[in-house]
Amino acid sequence: MDDYPILEMKNIQKAFPGVLANDNISLEIRRGEVHALLGENGAGKTTLMNILFGIYHPDHGEILINGKKTFIHSPQDAINEKIGMVQQHFALVPSFTVAENVILGLKNFGFIIKTKQVEQQIKELGERYSLPVRPKARVWTLSVGERQRIEILKLLYTGANILILDEPTAVLTPQETRQLFSAIRKLVKEGSSVIFISHKLDEVLEISDRISVLRNGKNTGTLNREEVDRRTLVQRMVGRDVLMDQEKPKVEPGPVKIEVKDLTVKNDKGLTAVNNLSLEIHGGEILGIAGVAGNGQKELAEAIYGLRPIETGKIQMAGEDLHHRSIKKRIQSGLSFIPQDRKSIATCPNLSVMFNIFMKNTIPGLKKSSAWNIQIKQMHEKTRELIRNFSISTPSSKTRVRYLSGGNLQKVVLARELSSNPSVIIAEHPTRGLDIGAMEFVYQALLEEKKKGSAILLLAGELYEIFRLSDRVAVIYEGEVMGYTPPDPSYTEKIGFMMAGTREDSIHEN
Ligand SMILES: Nc1ncnc2c1ncn2[C@@H]1O[C@H](COP(=O)(O)OP(=O)(O)OP(=O)(O)O)[C@@H](O)[C@H]1O
Ligand SMILES: [Mg+2]
Repeated sequence: MDDYPILEMKNIQKAFPGVLANDNISLEIRRGEVHALLGENGAGKTTLMNILFGIYHPDHGEILINGKKTFIHSPQDAINEKIGMVQQHFALVPSFTVAENVILGLKNFGFIIKTKQVEQQIKELGERYSLPVRPKARVWTLSVGERQRIEILKLLYTGANILILDEPTAVLTPQETRQLFSAIRKLVKEGSSVIFISHKLDEVLEISDRISVLRNGKNTGTLNREEVDRRTLVQRMVGRDVLMDQEKPKVEPGPVKIEVKDLTVKNDKGLTAVNNLSLEIHGGEILGIAGVAGNGQKELAEAIYGLRPIETGKIQMAGEDLHHRSIKKRIQSGLSFIPQDRKSIATCPNLSVMFNIFMKNTIPGLKKSSAWNIQIKQMHEKTRELIRNFSISTPSSKTRVRYLSGGNLQKVVLARELSSNPSVIIAEHPTRGLDIGAMEFVYQALLEEKKKGSAILLLAGELYEIFRLSDRVAVIYEGEVMGYTPPDPSYTEKIGFMMAGTREDSIHEN
């Protein structure tokens, strides 16, 4: 890493209606460094990077590249300056192949596009950075991890040497994160610079050379990795200590609230994803599902909610078969769903916070008989209350949710799904993209629902989260339950074996 900044953002100011997203931020990026941007949900990280990438224009401030004042009016300008960005919610065309998606991003490609050539080059780039992809595959058939690798290769293909990665690891499995980190290390060694946004402090401490912490739209300062630890970072971000690892409340399990029996479900490609799987969850119990992503977790959750047809088997809630029940009926009988894809399934981007919260008509406390204008008033009041309770940072209850930061969008989903007195909750990656304060809040909220007697199915990527919340852990592999363990880190190795396909009864403990 050289000390000389290749990129300077100076006194950047950006206001949106009702929020000052970037308040006089200055930031210096050096050649060959990994520079982490940290900050709570809504602190202004994505906004700042959108300005650097030419998506937004600052109200004030300037950008210098190699000491020269540069105007970035559009992403094309940014690409010309060798700046590339993988967005927080990425944007590939699902029906196109990998190579076609890469071509789509090239403005100066000749009239006759040499797909074969691009395919070959992508493959080579992938091999060089150990980011395996299949250039001929259609994007809809790929896992999120693979989609992200394509986004990164696309940047490298355009020649970017300042790479902005906005929460890249939020959607990755631990193995994919390792893979990404080794690619990042290689890139910075070659002289590229990486701006890395993440809420996972351990990752930030592992990969970064320097760390800038944003708070309420301001840069609190840039620190060298050696100068900081977890605690100092948390204090800088949140302004206080965040209490972690409180005791799990002990709850006497009630009757079985949801039972899955011999369930078989197919994935989008028509292959068996959930294979003859059975499980049951009692009221007042959290069952955590551990497994490598792509082993049927998503399909299981979708089948229970009614988004995906089942091939064989049964799902019962409070003893009643859900088979021919519409999603609406399932919701009415107390089923809540926090899906992993908060953008396309869980929310309507052009509707307000209020309508997103009331979308399912599950929030209690409205007087149904009132005139519509009184109802709307009540809905706004209730929404404002939830905005406060869930600390959603939004200018108002009328703001369209497309303008919320990633973490705050997730909080809107949680507010809706957790405040309807659910009897069964399916929580798929409930804390993805949340800052650590918000994460702790969600843990408390889920534990609170458990105390009230909900049965909760938790599908999470991180074992830490599963241990933290669950009463029992089921390990899933290729759509089958390999076995159960108590929620304790001492079982990590055993879980690892089961995640790789070994059945509980064939593991010999000594
Ligand atoms: N296009 C927009 N219109 C209106 N407000 C916006 C827009 N984009 C961002 N904001 C607001 O600016 C603030 C900063 O948002 P930003 O997305 O930069 O946060 P962030 O630090 O990336 O948070 P997260 O960790 O949740 O992704 C938020 O209050 C957000 O609601
Ligand atoms: Mg963001």
